Amino acid sequence: MQLIHTERLLLRPFSVEDADFIFDVYSRWDVQRYLGAVPGVMASIDEALDRITAWHGLDDGVHGVWAVTEADSGKLLGSLLLKFIPASGTNLAAEPAGDTEIGWHFHPDARGKGCASEAASAVLRHAFAHGLQKIVAVTNPDNHASQRVCERIGMLHHGISEAYYNARCELFVASAARSEPSMSGV
Ligand SMILES: CC(C)(COP(=O)(O)OP(=O)(O)OC[C@H]1O[C@@H](n2cnc3c(N)ncnc32)[C@H](O)[C@@H]1OP(=O)(O)O)[C@@H](O)C(=O)NCCC(=O)NCCS
Repeated sequence: MQLIHTERLLLRPFSVEDADFIFDVYSRWDVQRYLGAVPGVMASIDEALDRITAWHGLDDGVHGVWAVTEADSGKLLGSLLLKFIPASGTNLAAEPAGDTEIGWHFHPDARGKGCASEAASAVLRHAFAHGLQKIVAVTNPDNHASQRVCERIGMLHHGISEAYYNARCELFVASAARSEPSMSGV
C-alpha cells in the first residue's frame, strides 16, 4: 500500500497495534449511525482485528483502507477507504459493482479541523494518478457532515440514488476528466 503524505497527515496501512483505536471508533453509535442499511456498533476487539484483516485484503496497490495519522505525532485520527462498491440487488459481500467508492470515518476528537477533507482529497488524487476514471461516494441523506466533505473535495452531487448497497443514498461523483479536487493544495 502506498504511503500518502499531505501537509498535516500521513496515511499508512493499519496494523494489529491499531485494533484498540479501531474499536474505539467503530464501537460508537455517533460513528456508525449513518453506515450501512442496518447500522450497528462494533462489539469486540476481535471484530477490530477481523476488520484489519479484511482491509488488508482490499489492498491491490490502488484500492485499500488507510489509517489517517498526524504526520508529526503519529496520532491516529480515522480511516480513509478506497474500495469497490457493491451494486444494489447483488450479494453485497460478494459482488462488487465496477465502480470504486471513497469513504471516511473519523474519531469524534479528530473532527472539525479539515483532516477528513485533507485526507480524502489526497486519496482522490492518488486514485486518478493510478488511472481510475470515476470515484463515487454515497452518504445517508441525513449525513450532512459527510456530504460537506464530498463538496469540499470537489465531488459533484448527483442527487438521490438507489444504485448501491440496496439503500437510498445521496450520490456524489468525481471524474478524472475534471480531476481538479478543490483542495488540491492540501
Ligand atoms: C464525515 C466526517 C469524516 C466529517 O468530519 P469533519 O471533521 O466534519 O470533516 P473535516 O475534517 O473535513 O472538517 C471540516 C471542518 O473543519 C474545518 N476545516 C476545514 N479545513 C480546515 C483547516 N485547514 N484547518 C482547520 N479547520 C479546517 C471546516 O471549516 C469544517 O468545520 P465546519 O463544518 O464547522 O465548518 C465525520 O463526521 C465522521 O467521521 N462521521 C462518522 C462516520 C461517517 O458518517 N462517515 C461518512 C460515511 S458516508
